[in-house]
Amino acid sequence: MHKPGIRMKYYITTAIAYTSKKPHIGNSYEIVLTDAIARFRRLQGYDVYFCTGTDEHGQKIEELAKAEGVTPKEHVDRVAGEIRAICDLLNTTYDRFIRTTDADHEAAVQSIFKRLYDKGDIYKGEYEGNYCVPCESFFTDAQLKDGKCPDCGRPVTRAKEEAYFFRLSKYQRQLEEYIESHPDFIYPEARKNEMLNNFIRPGLQDLCVSRTSFRWGIPVPFDDRHVIYVWIDALSNYITALGYRADGSSDLYKKYWPADVHIVGKDIVRFHTIYWPIMLMALGEPLPKKVYGHPWLLFGEDKMSKSKGNVIYADELVERFGTDAVRYYLLSEMPHASDGSISYAEMIDRFNSDLANTLGNLVNRTVAMTNQYFGGILPCRSEADDAVDLPFKRDIEAVLPAEAAAFDAFKIADALEAVIGGAKRSNKYIDETQPWALAKDPEKKARLSTVLYNLIEAIRIIAVELSPFMPETTDRILAQIGTDLKSYESIQRFGGLEPGFRVGEAQPLFVRINAPQLLKEIEAEMREKTRAAKCAAQIAGVAKIGVDDFAKVDLRVAGIMTAERVKGAKKLLKLTLDLGSETRTVVSGIAKQYKPEELIGRRVIMVSNLQPAVIGKIESQGMILAADAGEDDVRLIFADGIPLGSQVK
Ligand code: MSP
Repeated sequence: MHKPGIRMKYYITTAIAYTSKKPHIGNSYEIVLTDAIARFRRLQGYDVYFCTGTDEHGQKIEELAKAEGVTPKEHVDRVAGEIRAICDLLNTTYDRFIRTTDADHEAAVQSIFKRLYDKGDIYKGEYEGNYCVPCESFFTDAQLKDGKCPDCGRPVTRAKEEAYFFRLSKYQRQLEEYIESHPDFIYPEARKNEMLNNFIRPGLQDLCVSRTSFRWGIPVPFDDRHVIYVWIDALSNYITALGYRADGSSDLYKKYWPADVHIVGKDIVRFHTIYWPIMLMALGEPLPKKVYGHPWLLFGEDKMSKSKGNVIYADELVERFGTDAVRYYLLSEMPHASDGSISYAEMIDRFNSDLANTLGNLVNRTVAMTNQYFGGILPCRSEADDAVDLPFKRDIEAVLPAEAAAFDAFKIADALEAVIGGAKRSNKYIDETQPWALAKDPEKKARLSTVLYNLIEAIRIIAVELSPFMPETTDRILAQIGTDLKSYESIQRFGGLEPGFRVGEAQPLFVRINAPQLLKEIEAEMREKTRAAKCAAQIAGVAKIGVDDFAKVDLRVAGIMTAERVKGAKKLLKLTLDLGSETRTVVSGIAKQYKPEELIGRRVIMVSNLQPAVIGKIESQGMILAADAGEDDVRLIFADGIPLGSQVK
């Protein structure tokens, strides 16, 4: 709860993103969500510390870097740079961007590992189990799903290695009791029950927390054949970012820990509500107050994936719609408990209806009328009509409590809807008061001024309430209405804006998008992306051949002498080809794309040493080369102007 006058601390974090590849818009959602919460708490007067960053160690990174021919550090430097650039592009206000390769983090993780070892909570043993390389996790036979990794569904390999173990089992009762006595710890409720029933109560096994099978990790400080398991390394970031060390902590840590909330995706709630609290218990440190497991953002019905060609990146969206509109859409679409989906059609629709129409028109009309009727400065003689004005003011004042309650419950889309509701209510007030009609009557000048004042004050309040979601828009609106009054106190009650302000030029905040045209463009781009993804997968899938294999194919330039349709076969053309030294009959499936008459006289490339085959009852003595350029789109490779019979190699 917000207590005016007392500056309370608020520590908020996101999960730290893997640096395997550039993150898609689904990954970027979390940082925007967290940023909105951080900004709202700052607006309320909290002393906020907001931490995000990147998770950079592990076998997968080591392998990716090898495949790219770079060092792991070079690889993670590039991807962490891309991730940070996206956070900046989305205008997120993190206080620290922690990288697990930062020297202070690495040293602190080693101090944590040593402390747990010295305490006897980490011990050396031997691990034998099913190992999933991409997930970097061991699984027992019982945990496998159809013999495959339960997390990613890929095959596992049998592996045995000397390893250090963390005594999770020792803390099972303590964790269970903690969760039961702190009903707010895991949020939402359904996730709490899932954790208790599916994982904790059935029994916790000790966790394997070191690896010897690869090198790209933080070395175990007293046994450097081992590197520390990535989740121990990654989870520690929440305290190492504040300067925590097992051998003496910083003021920042003392000030901000425990975290008020960790914002993480639903898939990693388990790590944050089992491994992480137990690590903290073993270290004797307080537990975070809350872990919020948010749902996922999908594109249409599908998970985004590069191979499906439906990946959307934040920078592409920002380039098209602008940072604030992207933030608006992500935050307004995201449900609180179940997965959300985004689509371009919906994004454009929301842009036009909520941003251009509801919000943009409200500001534009009000500023334009203030300029037109009063030269930009309101005389502001108060002539209220209580029957119309009081309910309006009451409704505008009700927005902030609704917004705050929704933020408290992590219902961010509801918070945003409350604010847009304020803009809708203001448009309704324009309909109720009809300022253009008042302007026609010189007797009604004072009333007109009051109406416009009320509108500008409502716009100011709404603009400030919008700042956690669309900070640039807030500043643009306040500049247009000529005020910088934006404290939390000033928006709690209607009427804080002192007369005497001068409104600026009316400028459209959001220019309406021509939806059909843009959608057509986007569809063409998406088709191209899908096609490119398909080609990439095909190329990756074909086996390499030696130059001798290729030399077995004899390719020659041939001229088309005759061309005719094959009766009863819609796709086939029968061609007579001139190789210079001889002629051949070839049947080709290109009738849908080419008319016989347009081919005569053209030169193409032919496979001359193919065994003859009967196609459409005709013996085809070779094959001509064509590209498969998409669905039903076959294009011949022409070789006009090249001498007949020339070999292609
Ligand atoms: N590195 C781990 C987290 C370690 S935290 C100590 C990780 N990284 S991740 O890059 O895979 O995911 C980062 C965050 O993005 C996670 O919270 C994850 O749930 C979230 N999301 C990944 N895909 C997402 C969507 N499609 N939609 C919303 N969030 C998604 O897990």
